[in-house]
Order: sequence, then structure tokens, then C-alpha cells
Amino acid sequence: MSAKLMDGKALAAEMRAELRAEVERLAATGVAPGLAVVLVGKDPASQSYVSAKERACAEIGVRSFDHRLPAETTQDRLMGLVRELNADPKVHGILVQLPLPKHINEDDVLLAIDPAKDVDGFHPVNVGRMLIGHKAYLPCTPHGVVQMLVRHGVRTDGAHVVIVGRSNIVGKPLAVLMMQKREGGNATVTVCHTRTRDLASHTRRADIIVAAAGRPNTITAEMVKDGAVVVDVGVNRVEDASKKSGFRLVGDVDFEAVKHKASLITPVPGGVGPMTITMLLASTVEAAKLSSGT
Ligand code: GUN
Repeated sequence: MSAKLMDGKALAAEMRAELRAEVERLAATGVAPGLAVVLVGKDPASQSYVSAKERACAEIGVRSFDHRLPAETTQDRLMGLVRELNADPKVHGILVQLPLPKHINEDDVLLAIDPAKDVDGFHPVNVGRMLIGHKAYLPCTPHGVVQMLVRHGVRTDGAHVVIVGRSNIVGKPLAVLMMQKREGGNATVTVCHTRTRDLASHTRRADIIVAAAGRPNTITAEMVKDGAVVVDVGVNRVEDASKKSGFRLVGDVDFEAVKHKASLITPVPGGVGPMTITMLLASTVEAAKLSSGT
């Protein structure tokens, strides 16, 4: 068996075309959705994610306000910027790229963002609302994973989903979304992590595996049941002398081997990544609509 590819790039392009039309409709009413993107320091992976987010904004006509600050930026300076962005009516969404440098308290920064502009869905108010199933900004990567499954017709209702990884950004919120009583939810969810004993005994029982561990080859072929759906959230840089950059990107799944067991699988790159950014755009457009009452 060889798996069908879940092409995140193609699906994201389709969804971005819908969003572009929405942005044009809003423009006709005098509303221009705006996203502030804040990056502190020069982490290469974060720089490339932030650039991709800004390009995506330009692609659909969302204004992006770029704030690239030096690594030595103080907590006070960053909190001051967040307060300015909270008060700026041109800014409908605020994204502070994580991780932040060690001397900055991430929790305090996330708490300072106005929940109504928290298009990343990281503010405790939005996390709490999501948990109890109220309307909320959803974290973009888990939201993108659910959309990818729904739009590929994957039945989650009653399915056994095994998530490998328990981060606040992916594993924990994805578990909440997939167990929620709604479309793309109703699953029985197992969350595995670095202290899980015999990981393979869990993944082998999964109808859907989501790998979000941040380590290449976390999921190998013998860990996957025949016909399972495999979603790879990992983005890992591995050295590759044949590349100009000196590295290539791989996921957490041994793609070449697992594609012979799975029924559907996401590639890296071109799988979950483009969907994450698309959900960020969707939340920013939504925030602009809510703030303008259109
Ligand atoms: N770092 C890794 N993923 C994300 C994300 O979705 N949002 C932000 N702000 N930072 C991240």
C-alpha cells in the first residue's frame, strides 16, 4: 500500500483564495485587516517562519506590521510594544513569535496581549474558552491539523487519535480540539510524550497519528497500523552538504518507510506548515470583521 498525500500547500492555496475574496469584500467597506508580527532576536527558524507569515499576509491583502527587535530587548520594552499594539486600531491581530529569549517571561508577554487580538490563541482566556468549547481564537497549528483532516474527508468521529507531543502550542490544544463535541472532533484521544512507556504500543493502535515531538524518526514504519492516517507536525533541520543552506527540513515521521503503511500522510515541507499560516490569516480576517462589526 502507498499512501495518498495530504497536500497542505494545495489546500492552503485554496483557502487563501477564499480569504483573499473576503479581504476584498472587507476593503469595499473600508476595513483593512492588519496583523502585527513581533520577533525578538535572530533565531533562524523563527526568522524564516515570520518571513513566511509576512509573505502570506501580502498574498491575500492583509497589512502586516513588522516589529523585529534585538535579542537584548527588555521585558519592559516588549510589554510596552504589546500595549501600543493593543491600542492601535489598524492592528486587528498580534503575533509574538515564540520562543522568546530566556530573560523574557513568555507567560507575562502572552498575558499582556488583548484576547480580542490574540490570533495565535495563546492567551489563557482563549485557551480556557477553547477548552470548554466556547468561541475562541484557536492555536493555528492544531486548527490547521483539524482543517486538513476535515477537508480530506478523514472521519474523526469515534476514531482513536494518538498525539505524540504535549506542548502548549500543538499537543495539548490539539488533544482538546479532537475530543471536542464538534466537526473534526469526537475522537478518543491518547497523548504520548517523553515519559510514555512503550510508545509503539500506543501508536500501533491509532487510526490517526499526529507526530509533534520535534525529533526526526520519532515515528517509524513498525509503529504504524496498516491504513492509518499520519500527520507530521515536525519541522527539523538536519545537516545536508548537498544543499546551499547546508541543511534540509524533515518531519518527525520516517516518511519514506511510513508512506507504505499509511492510507494518508502529510509531507514535510508542504504539509501542516502552510495550513498553520493559513489559519493565522483566517483568524486575523475574523478579528478585523469582529472589531468592525461587518
Ligand atoms: N512558534 C512556533 N509555533 C508558533 C506559533 O504558532 N505562533 C507563535 N507565535 N510562535 C510559534
